[in-house]
Amino acid sequence: MKKNPANNIESHLHESRVFKPHAAFSKTSLIRDMATYRRLHRESIERPQVFWKRASGELRWLKKWTKLLEWKPPFAKWFLGGKINVSDNCLDRHIEGPRRNKAAIIWEGEPGEKRTITYQQLHRDVCRFANVLLRNKIKKGDRVIIYMPMIPEAAVAMLACARIGAVHSVVFGGFSADSIRDRIADSGATAVITADGGYRRGTIVPLKHNVDAALKGSKAIKRVIVFRRAHNDIHIEEGRDVWWHRELEYVDANCPAAALDSEDPLFILYTSGSTGKPKGILHTTAGYLLGVALTTKYVFDLKEADVFWCTADVGWVTGHSYTVYGALANGATSLMYEGAPNWPDPDRFWRIIADYGVTVFYTAPTAIRAFIKWGDTWVNKHDLSSLRLLGSVGEPINPEAWMWYHRVVGASRCPIVDTWWQTETGSIMISPMPGATPCKPGTATLPFFGVDAAVVDDNGREVPADVGGKLVIRKPWPSMLRTIYGDKPRYRKQYWGDFKGWYTTGDGARRDKDGYFWIVGRIDDVLNVAGHRLGTSEVESALVSHESVAEAAVVGRPDELKGQAVVAFVTLKTGAKPSGELREKIRSHVAHSIGAIAKPDDIRFSEALPKTRSGKIMRRLLKDIASGNSITGDTTTLEDFSVLTRLRDDEA
Ligand code: WTA
Repeated sequence: MKKNPANNIESHLHESRVFKPHAAFSKTSLIRDMATYRRLHRESIERPQVFWKRASGELRWLKKWTKLLEWKPPFAKWFLGGKINVSDNCLDRHIEGPRRNKAAIIWEGEPGEKRTITYQQLHRDVCRFANVLLRNKIKKGDRVIIYMPMIPEAAVAMLACARIGAVHSVVFGGFSADSIRDRIADSGATAVITADGGYRRGTIVPLKHNVDAALKGSKAIKRVIVFRRAHNDIHIEEGRDVWWHRELEYVDANCPAAALDSEDPLFILYTSGSTGKPKGILHTTAGYLLGVALTTKYVFDLKEADVFWCTADVGWVTGHSYTVYGALANGATSLMYEGAPNWPDPDRFWRIIADYGVTVFYTAPTAIRAFIKWGDTWVNKHDLSSLRLLGSVGEPINPEAWMWYHRVVGASRCPIVDTWWQTETGSIMISPMPGATPCKPGTATLPFFGVDAAVVDDNGREVPADVGGKLVIRKPWPSMLRTIYGDKPRYRKQYWGDFKGWYTTGDGARRDKDGYFWIVGRIDDVLNVAGHRLGTSEVESALVSHESVAEAAVVGRPDELKGQAVVAFVTLKTGAKPSGELREKIRSHVAHSIGAIAKPDDIRFSEALPKTRSGKIMRRLLKDIASGNSITGDTTTLEDFSVLTRLRDDEA
């Protein structure tokens, strides 16, 4: 692998394998050749009025929009004057036609229950639960926390909020009480929807218990609605908590979808940033829905009979945009599962694909690397011939993992769409068109319609082919975030501060001679652990909140399975002694305050941390040490040089 001396970005120039879509696949796909892709992409950039007027016809509008875009950088409004409802688009319009009795959600619980919910049934469930929300005085604009296992009721809760215009904020079921508390405080939520528990790897995750801990001492939450899933013992707080199934007894299934403004908020989803607390990414109604509807249709080249399986939890943006909204907006059958890929055995995914005849499978590189490790026999045990298209998201997919995915899972037959996007972008931004784009392992290839992506240097000039730079988006797009909830200055600075009117993604990238985008990773202090974003500073704050810890610095180390592993350098308070036991205690403390994914893989005690004279921790040096590399680059700004030697000595 060659290094580009100018910018130290790895070059994959040796990657010369090209995989053209098979003719049989292209023949029946929506975009059959590159000329069509290029024509539509050009139109979307040069004549957005024409492109988006046609594209927006994919949705059902309760009132037609009159103005496409109002762009007062960095604030955008799309489809002004329009009235629309996400739940109406995902449900009502399908039940008026032949999809009425089509499966909307196919679900498998970890203990093995199977449920198939038709569009008609899902519509009824959502209407009834929307009435439960109204009955509990939850109304348009109110923020509602959803902290649920991966059961269909998680989607029902989201769609019911969307139906009445309440703003949901889903908190991943793997997060701890502290994370819930922070998100409630930041969003000003007044209600929580949760379950008694959920299943993961044979144990029950005590969701309601975590909610109780999060709500201790606060009066902000007026109502907690609890779905009975795992039948574990829970506490019901009189006057605050109600059972989902009891509430259903009081309502009917008649709940018209509210006519919402295009720009009414749909959800807030928290994601990690490089500094401070998680950011509440705010998405609104029409633009987001159109973005996810259009990308699901074209990137996954949807067919009426597809069984579409996006393996993401609804706690992440991928679960929002593809498991729930994108799939249902298209009237597709979306598969949901509860549990983990290797429980009860490492073939859970392959068995599910075979059992339900999954046709489109969308997962993350971290899972793919784990499958490679567990061995091909688990895959080969099952008949995967129903698959026709594979997808990847969350981090760069290494060319070798891509090849394995292609060969072993896709039987060298299925195209792979490597999709680049972010919580902030709402929907897929860079991806192959499976029937048209020749793929190369490791690149997300070319921008989706309406996306003006570029790789630029610090002065905003496009860099030549194969030179690394910052990935930016030079035009607003419909499904973009509208702000960071409650923090416009941070929104402006974080995403629009580098170049006027351009969105900074925080990712580094390069384009090859064919214009394909190769993402090389984050340029800010954000870790990508198993496809999940973690801010180094969040983990540091959690470490420092332990009674024995004085100071902490967190860096990523390349990890074969997880992409990055979390390495923490920790200095202890006077009196505290480094020990294996303390190390374990600190690790559990982080898991307790953020969640198990943030638990450091490695904690290194040290007497001091390398700092600049202005007191900034020099993470670059720690990264080298954590990865076992020799220290490269400039150390002249280091305040106390002996710290480095001591850190390395500690390793030995
Ligand atoms: C990374 C997940 C390379 C990237 C949808 C981005 C990727 C961050 C890819 C967003 C990909 C996501 N190739 N890198 N196909 N997809 N990323 O907000 O660094 O959880 O900025 O959204 O994941 O993570 P997020």
